[in-house]
Amino acid sequence: MKQDKTERHVIVGSAMLLAIFVVVTLFVVSISQASPAPDNAATSATFRTKCAMCHGPDGAGSTVGKSMNVPDLRSPEVQKLPDAQLVQIISDGKGGMPPFKSSLSEDQIHSLIAYVHSLHQKK
Ligand code: HEC
Repeated sequence: MKQDKTERHVIVGSAMLLAIFVVVTLFVVSISQASPAPDNAATSATFRTKCAMCHGPDGAGSTVGKSMNVPDLRSPEVQKLPDAQLVQIISDGKGGMPPFKSSLSEDQIHSLIAYVHSLHQKK
């Protein structure tokens, strides 16, 4: 009789351990799947703070930007530019656009280029 009870405890105990294990695994999986999102959020925040004052939040160009003749970043003219050229424009600036190589890392510049391409797809 006593032994039965111990066995029940062991079974309940291992079931609980199993449940904890499953919950932890699901939690870790959901975190690892969510990780690209903060990255995108960081890039769109960078775009909003560094680029949107001239290019507008959607890349179309702000009022200030339009007065400087910024191109619509969603336009085919900009979208067809090779990445290497976009890196160079963002790093070194162009016309009225300031250089960003001292304030943005290479990784950030690459993420911004992907972001610029994603603006095109949203249209
Ligand atoms: C002070 C205003 C200003 C800011 C801030 C700015 N730009 Fe620009 N950008 C311009 C102007 C002006 C042009 C047009 C330059 C030209 O063709 O002479 C331009 C052009 C561009 C082009 C197209 C270049 C081409 O050859 O068609 C891209 C891409 C671009 N900017 C991306 C960015 C990104 C990404 C950021 C943020 C890191 C940014 N810009 C920040 C003013 C700005």
